[in-house]
Amino acid sequence: MNAVELLKEQHREVAALFKRFDKARRKDEKEELFLDIAARLVSHDAIEREIFYPACEKILGEDEALLEGIAEHGLIEFSIFRADKARGAATFEYLVTVLKEMVEHHVEEEEEEILPKMERKAGAATLERLGEAMLERFEAAMAKDFRRPLREDLQQVLAGRTRTVPPKRRARTTKRKRAASGGARGKAGARSKRATGGRRSQAAR
Ligand SMILES: [Fe+2]
Ligand SMILES: [Fe+2]
Repeated sequence: MNAVELLKEQHREVAALFKRFDKARRKDEKEELFLDIAARLVSHDAIEREIFYPACEKILGEDEALLEGIAEHGLIEFSIFRADKARGAATFEYLVTVLKEMVEHHVEEEEEEILPKMERKAGAATLERLGEAMLERFEAAMAKDFRRPLREDLQQVLAGRTRTVPPKRRARTTKRKRAASGGARGKAGARSKRATGGRRSQAAR
């Protein structure tokens, strides 16, 4: 599937869910719709941050719209986090409205600036290859609860990172660095990581 078409299709799906959220009368219906929106946005965020945006940076180079887009992802994640925490509270509905407005602004810029540039500069085969990888990653992300990846990514945003990466990739990078530095320390590190299931070393970073 073409990456640009996939992203646009997902933007439309989320916009339709926000519309249903606005029309819904029952609180439980609104909460259910919000949970669907949150899961889709966190999974969409993952495919853009991990696959699409890095490809854009390679093909388009330093691009203002791209840098703004990456920074906006952190703000959208914060809005998802706040709305999720406010479920059942009086603030829930307007926090979802804030989220909707941020997403609308972000989608507009992405569709007017980033996606057309990629359509012009990346070849059809590249867009197809990216699209396949993104769809696979999206489905894997949707199969899991959105809160853990959301929290892990927000922790990186709060620590001042703009280009956030999934913890697994950071763990692999560290392992490669350890291997490159060589010696028994690297092996001992790998052993202790196995013993703790890798969790403690990830949390410490
Ligand atoms: Fe997007
Ligand atoms: Fe985006």
